[in-house]
Amino acid sequence: MFLVTGATGDIGRRVVRLLRESDKQVRAFVRLSSHYGELEHRGAELFIGDLRFERDIKKACQGVRYIISTHGSDGDALALDYRANIELIDQAKVNGVEHFVFISVLGADRGYEDAPVFKAKREVEKYLVSSGLNYTILRPAGLASNLLPLAERFRETGIYVLIGDAKNRTSIVSTDDLAKIAVNSVSVIGARNQIFPVGGPSILTREDIPRTFSRIFNKEPVIINAPLFLVDGFRGALGLINPQAQKSLGTFRTLLANEFFCKTEEITNLEAIFTFPLEPLESFLKRYLSI
Ligand SMILES: NC(=O)c1ccc[n+]([C@@H]2O[C@H](COP(=O)([O-])OP(=O)(O)OC[C@H]3O[C@@H](n4cnc5c(N)ncnc54)[C@H](OP(=O)(O)O)[C@@H]3O)[C@@H](O)[C@H]2O)c1
Repeated sequence: MFLVTGATGDIGRRVVRLLRESDKQVRAFVRLSSHYGELEHRGAELFIGDLRFERDIKKACQGVRYIISTHGSDGDALALDYRANIELIDQAKVNGVEHFVFISVLGADRGYEDAPVFKAKREVEKYLVSSGLNYTILRPAGLASNLLPLAERFRETGIYVLIGDAKNRTSIVSTDDLAKIAVNSVSVIGARNQIFPVGGPSILTREDIPRTFSRIFNKEPVIINAPLFLVDGFRGALGLINPQAQKSLGTFRTLLANEFFCKTEEITNLEAIFTFPLEPLESFLKRYLSI
């Protein structure tokens, strides 16, 4: 039995889909408020709960052999990115779990002090590595599925808003490839007890994204390049009324202000270990936008 957290999310639902396609037993951890119809339809067992509650995590882990942690944090990094994963790891030990796959983030090890999600991910990574469990830690760059709503907006308006340095590099990864890597991590020997940066096959600059949209839709892009200090100004003002939200925005700012790309040799290594070629961004977008 696989336990998948974040099972309704972009990565999680693809993980559940892949597992069910190969007839694996899956327990999908979902909230009552989530859209979980597809998971049920695919034959996953639903566990309805909330990752903020230890008792729910404890129950969900009973009798599972593998855990794939893909949940996000809704702005509460301490409760969800940190505590929920620590509890999942503890319960994995109690239940004799054979392999724990953790979705971290590229740059988790860079010590970004202002980014609660990055800090939480790094602490969980350390805890998992020293837990004695078999593990695979995946550190993805940006997910291609995040771009789908932006591409739809571009299709209608031709506008793309880019905040910060347009020359910053990124390695957007196909969300389907990431899900496949997560699932295969439990069986591929070379993935055992490893930490992998996960990106797409090529290094892009952030301005390559509207250019890609432009090629797909055959439309001249109107790129609105907003400076980062606008985010800082907004953040400062927000801090006056909601200090917690101001802190959460630190992760967003970190993502905008830095480069998140994988080196060519890291991608070559990933392809060699998981034995499939990673999908270029343009191909991913065309598949989902039916072009
Ligand atoms: N998006 C990126 O570009 C990116 C890049 C690097 C790493 N990551 C990491 O990848 C992971 C997944 O990202 P994603 O974009 O697939 O996330 P997502 O689509 O936002 O999904 C988040 C999932 O977490 C679930 N969740 C949130 N709070 C919960 C709670 N209290 N109890 C139970 N479930 C809860 C959500 O359930 P509901 O359906 O109920 O909301 C949803 O299934 C995250 O750990 C993220 O940090 C993402």
